[in-house]
Amino acid sequence: MQQEKAYLVTGASSGIGYETALALALEEQNKVIAVSRNAGKLQQLREASGNKIETHLFDLDGGNFNELYTRLEQSGLKHLHGLVHNAGFLVNRSYADITREELEQCYRVNVFAPFLLSQCLLPLLKAAGSAHIVHISSIGGVQGSVKFPGLSAYSSSKGALAVLSECLATELAPEKIKVNCLALGAVQTEMLSMAFPGYEAPLQAHDMGTFVSWFVVNGHRFFNGKILPVALSTP
Ligand SMILES: NC(=O)c1ccc[n+]([C@@H]2O[C@H](COP(=O)([O-])OP(=O)(O)OC[C@H]3O[C@@H](n4cnc5c(N)ncnc54)[C@H](OP(=O)(O)O)[C@@H]3O)[C@@H](O)[C@H]2O)c1
Repeated sequence: MQQEKAYLVTGASSGIGYETALALALEEQNKVIAVSRNAGKLQQLREASGNKIETHLFDLDGGNFNELYTRLEQSGLKHLHGLVHNAGFLVNRSYADITREELEQCYRVNVFAPFLLSQCLLPLLKAAGSAHIVHISSIGGVQGSVKFPGLSAYSSSKGALAVLSECLATELAPEKIKVNCLALGAVQTEMLSMAFPGYEAPLQAHDMGTFVSWFVVNGHRFFNGKILPVALSTP
């Protein structure tokens, strides 16, 4: 029998995170932990997985990361093989009008939360013997990509997340923790509709979730400290 492997996905209540968690749960040996703020949607995810996915209500903006760690330990989690920082917050507003609170919220969810959650979960990641942290960024957060008006807070926060991946890959290498960043192009989700109303993306959330689930399980055999564009287009 294969050893159980544990994976945690943030922002698993909808879109890409929902599909990533479901795809991970298809493998019998995977324990999947899903995090979001929406109890109803988490219940839907749990049921869709045949009650295989363990769900945790948690607000990445202002939540106590140590309290989440304690909850995970109390639920019997002893090691974590993969951590997908998928949750994201989008502000689509002109640079002149963005408020300080919107800017800070964007950075709290997109940058501070991955930074602090990985830091807090380090003991569980080290205990796995080999682990993979995946940051879900955006093609707009990659240097030299096409940029769009209204996305200055969002895209710059995703750029910070991308560089954080390079920093952590170096620092965590001695612990056998690999860190990579997927800079996604357009995927049909609620967030895309907010960013680009009316635009039809070439990929559905299921397509991308299937890829992300494969990548968190296997990608660290091939990549470390890489910012990988996963995009057919830059809308
Ligand atoms: N769709 C695209 O075209 C595209 C392109 C590039 C990058 N991305 C990135 O892909 C990731 C997934 O986005 P999506 O398109 O699938 O969007 P989505 O369907 O709107 O999902 C966003 C997720 O983030 C979670 N979230 C937001 N704020 C949170 C908070 N404070 N605490 C906990 N969870 C929070 C939401 O959960 P709750 O509201 O339930 O808490 C939700 O599950 C994001 O990081 C996004 O930036 C998407």
